[in-house]
Amino acid sequence: MNWLVRAFSTSVGKKQLMAVTGMLFLVFLGTHLLGNLSIYGGKEAFNAYAHGLHQLGKILVVAEIGLVVCLVIHVFLAVLLFLENRRARPVKYAVDKSGGNGRTLSSVTMPYTGLLILVFVIVHLAGFSHHIVDQSRRTIFQIASSIFASPLGLIFYVFSMIVVALHVRHGLWSAFQSIGLNHPKYMPFIRGLSLAYAILVGVGFGLLPIVIRFMS
Ligand code: HEM
Ligand code: HEM
Repeated sequence: MNWLVRAFSTSVGKKQLMAVTGMLFLVFLGTHLLGNLSIYGGKEAFNAYAHGLHQLGKILVVAEIGLVVCLVIHVFLAVLLFLENRRARPVKYAVDKSGGNGRTLSSVTMPYTGLLILVFVIVHLAGFSHHIVDQSRRTIFQIASSIFASPLGLIFYVFSMIVVALHVRHGLWSAFQSIGLNHPKYMPFIRGLSLAYAILVGVGFGLLPIVIRFMS
C-alpha cells in the first residue's frame, strides 16, 4: 500500500500515474480506432463491430471499469497538478518535460484539451453507448448518421478530434519523460512517434463523422 500512498503524494509519483493512465488511454484509442475503421467495410460491418463489442460480455465490463478507474485517476491528478503548478511557479515540474522540445501549443494547452476531452467523452457516451441509448430499434449506424446529419454534431466531433490529437501529441511525449525514457538518443524518435500517433488518431477519427454522413 506504501507505493500507492507515495504515488499519490509525491510529484514524481503523480506524474508517473498520469503517464500510466494516459498510456492506457492511448492503447484504448488505438483499438477503438481499429474497431471504428469497420465503417469502410460498409454499414453492416460497422453494426457488426458494435454488436461484437456487446457480445464480449464480462471482458467488456472489466475493460469499462478499467477505463473509468483510469479516467477518475487521470482527471483527479490533472486537477491536482494544475493547482500545484499555479501555486508553485516558476518551478513547474519535478520531471523536466520540455526535454528540449520547448513550449508548444499542445504542451501549454494540456489542461484545457483534457477538459474538452472530458466533455467530449460525456457527450459521446450519451449519444452512442449501448448502456444509455436503446439500440434495439435503431442500429448503431443509424444512430451515428443521425448525430452527424446535424452540422452542429459534425462540427463538434471533428473539432473534438483535433483537440484529442493535440492532447495525444504532447501526452505521448510527456509520458515517455515521466517514466524515465528520456535519453537524448531517443528524443527524435519519441518526438516523431508522438506526432505520427497524433496525426493517425486525429485524421483516423476525424474522417469518420464525414464518411458516415456521406454514406447515409
Ligand atoms: C468519430 C469518432 C468516433 C466514433 C464514430 C465512435 C464510435 C463509437 C461506437 C460505435 C461505440 C460503441 C457504442 C456502443 O455500442 O456501446 C463507441 C464507444 C465508446 N467510445 Fe467512441 N467513437 C469515436 C471517438 C471516440 C473517442 C475519440 C473516444 C475517447 C476520447 C471515444 C471513447 C469511447 C468510449 C469510452 C466508448 C464506450 C466503450 C464501452 O462502453 O465499452 N470514442 N464509440
Ligand atoms: C483520450 C483521452 C486521454 C488521453 C489519451 C490522455 C493522454 C495523456 C497522456 C499520455 C498524458 C501524459 C502524462 C505525463 O505527463 O506523463 C496526459 C497528461 C495530461 N492529461 Fe490526459 N489524456 C486523456 C484525457 C484527459 C482528460 C479527460 C483530462 C482532464 C480533464 C486530461 C488532462 C491531462 C493533463 C492536465 C495532463 C498533464 C499535462 C502535463 O503534464 O503537461 N487528460 N494525458
